Amino acid sequence: MEEKFKSADKPETEEGKQYHIDLKPGDLAPYVLTPGDPGRVDRILKTWDEGKILSFHREYKSATGKFKGVDISALSTGIGGPSLAIAVEEAARIGVHTFIRVGTTGSIQKEISLGDIVIINGSVRLDGTSHQYVRVEYPAIASFEVTMALIEACEELGYKYHVGIGASTDSFYSGQGRPGLNNYLPSFAKEIFNDLQMANVMNFEMECATLFTITSIYKLRAGALCVVIANRVTNEFQYIGEEKAITVANYAVKILNEWDKIKRKKGKNFFYPGLIK
Ligand code: URA
Repeated sequence: MEEKFKSADKPETEEGKQYHIDLKPGDLAPYVLTPGDPGRVDRILKTWDEGKILSFHREYKSATGKFKGVDISALSTGIGGPSLAIAVEEAARIGVHTFIRVGTTGSIQKEISLGDIVIINGSVRLDGTSHQYVRVEYPAIASFEVTMALIEACEELGYKYHVGIGASTDSFYSGQGRPGLNNYLPSFAKEIFNDLQMANVMNFEMECATLFTITSIYKLRAGALCVVIANRVTNEFQYIGEEKAITVANYAVKILNEWDKIKRKKGKNFFYPGLIK
């Protein structure tokens, strides 16, 4: 049977099923891992104690389950800001409050090596989508709680990690200073690369600026970790470390869930280290 949607402004069914992600209230846990790649959702699911695939519509594949007793879900966003913004808008409408991007990235600093984890606490907004939400001066920053949970997870697991600012682009090639077809590379693309590198920006990826901007506007929480698969200084590229990134994200959800319980018990809105003394 063809589904009936309420309106053009709100493309959802009577029971609240969202048009793009094909999910309704209660389908996703409040803590959601958001990889770009739908295939990564299957690989995330395999690391949980239990779980199941929920839906796969366009680039949005979803799964829900349990990791160490905590309800957890995953929803792929596709590549880039436009598709990620749709995933966040619709997931928030059905009850998600915490998003953790589990991505891959290209380092622009020599010492940030292939296989390292970068925890991104703010993004240079070289995307287009965030500019359709709010003026250019608005910062794209991660939730400090999610960032702290990611750091704690990396420490517990003994993984090498870096914390700092990344840059999100809408183009993998020219936008990140990579030569296009027939070595097309305009001078401004070279300039962006060099300027950001000099400003100690860690990496290029394609989703964090949109994710952080939208979740800040809506008072949701988001954080991000990416595994380095390209080093743009040494010119190396290898798809490695995805399992490490998934493990860190799973543990970060467990940690956040514990901190959230402590906050509720102590009547606090924000977590700080003194709360666990
Ligand atoms: N993702 C990106 O956006 N850039 C890279 O170099 C690698 C992964």
